[in-house]
Amino acid sequence: MYHWDKVEEALRYIGKRGCASPEIAVILGSGLGRVADVLERPEIIPYEEIPYWPRSTAPGHEGKLILGSMGGKRVAVMQGRVHYYEGYTMAEVTFPIRVLGSLGIKALVATNASGAVNPDIRPGSVAAIVDHINFMGTNPLIGVNNDKWGERFPDMSAAYDGEFIRAAEKAAAAEGLELKKGVYMAFSGPSFETPAEIRMARAMGADLVGMSTVPEVTAANHMGIRVLGLSCASNYAAGITSEKLTHREVLEVMSRCGESVAALIERFIDEVRL
Ligand code: HPA
Repeated sequence: MYHWDKVEEALRYIGKRGCASPEIAVILGSGLGRVADVLERPEIIPYEEIPYWPRSTAPGHEGKLILGSMGGKRVAVMQGRVHYYEGYTMAEVTFPIRVLGSLGIKALVATNASGAVNPDIRPGSVAAIVDHINFMGTNPLIGVNNDKWGERFPDMSAAYDGEFIRAAEKAAAAEGLELKKGVYMAFSGPSFETPAEIRMARAMGADLVGMSTVPEVTAANHMGIRVLGLSCASNYAAGITSEKLTHREVLEVMSRCGESVAALIERFIDEVRL
């Protein structure tokens, strides 16, 4: 079966659940699940009920699609995502974006946990992603192009929407939160980077490193969906400090970061013009 026939089947299922088409989608990364709590009139669809929808195996990731509204806008929240390092293909990793894009979303808020390469971004702080470096060794658009989704060679010169970054900065100021800005570099993982890789990342212009987001953002750009990327720095990247990295540390810092990100996203959605 073609990948896009699977997407059609997932669309039919969500359609049958009678949900209104979302205008904006939010992907919640590691430890950031609580943003979904503020949705009004939520319709909760466990990932396993949706045909072909990939299920998260990473700790700290729940598996639910929640459709509801926030700030007068129709919102789809993905509580949990899958990663390339889990063994999923890039087509599977970007499957939810293909479904949500086909449902008509105009905007995507993608969140993640990251390691700070730039020492000015302290663990616990939130940054707007201004650009990315795809260092995953592959690209989710490889393969036959579906012209209905987008063109063969999509432009990536404003992968993270400039107006959205400004709107996020305004929302952060209104919430009394400091919002950093940075370039996100994606590695495949699942091993954390070595100190030499982090020195390379810094030399290449990265401020943050992580193992997600770039596939979804690439697919979103392919479909003409505008993106806001928000990253919670959960730790200093390898070699920036002498501490060892653990996933537990990532989740601990993220649960604190979650509140700031939830407030920021809520206000952003409330005020942004789509
Ligand atoms: N590296 C890669 N991914 C991450 C990190 C890191 O240091 N922290 C959280 N996600």
